[in-house]
Amino acid sequence: MDRPTPLITAEAIAARVGELGQLITRDYRGKPLLLVGVLDGAFVFLADLCRQVDLPLDLDFVCVQSYREGTESNGRPALTRDLTRPVAGRDVLIVEDIVDTGLTADFLWKLLGTRGASSLALCALLRKKGRAIRDVPVEYLGFEVPDRFIVGYGLDHAQRYRNLPYLAVLERPSSD
Ligand code: IMP
Ligand code: MG
Repeated sequence: MDRPTPLITAEAIAARVGELGQLITRDYRGKPLLLVGVLDGAFVFLADLCRQVDLPLDLDFVCVQSYREGTESNGRPALTRDLTRPVAGRDVLIVEDIVDTGLTADFLWKLLGTRGASSLALCALLRKKGRAIRDVPVEYLGFEVPDRFIVGYGLDHAQRYRNLPYLAVLERPSSD
């Protein structure tokens, strides 16, 4: 398989994550903030982001899977791990690695929207241009990226590349 082509450097990611942290700190001051990380891909982003938010906050995780081993979503997101605590009365910020078709974010939005949170918003490190099937509002966006397969900084292809410290394009993803 080809070596991924660098797209966004570790330094540029760190700078942008710092800016997002400042915006979130400003917007959620005095509120009971709950960051909900979407596993597996968001674990690196969430780890860096939460340390740039200068507020008391709670963390919880969901796992949503809609990908097989290849690069196309099967289009049916399924919850494979739910939150461990209630969200009623909390200001919930969903933290995603990448919004591609928007199906996963839309699924989570609807699911968590039924649980009595005071507010619900979405933070995504990446959003792919021209791919939306569901139009979900991304309040906090790291970078808009081209419609290519992205790996690194938590994002995988068939579980590989999550540990790359930068974001890269996998030129010819294959399922082997
Ligand atoms: P969506 O439901 O199509 O928006 O896709 C959301 C999920 O698919 C993300 O949380 C990722 O886990 C995965 N995904 C989508 N595009 C990519 C990509 O380019 N690289 C790695 N994972 C991706
Ligand atoms: Mg993934």
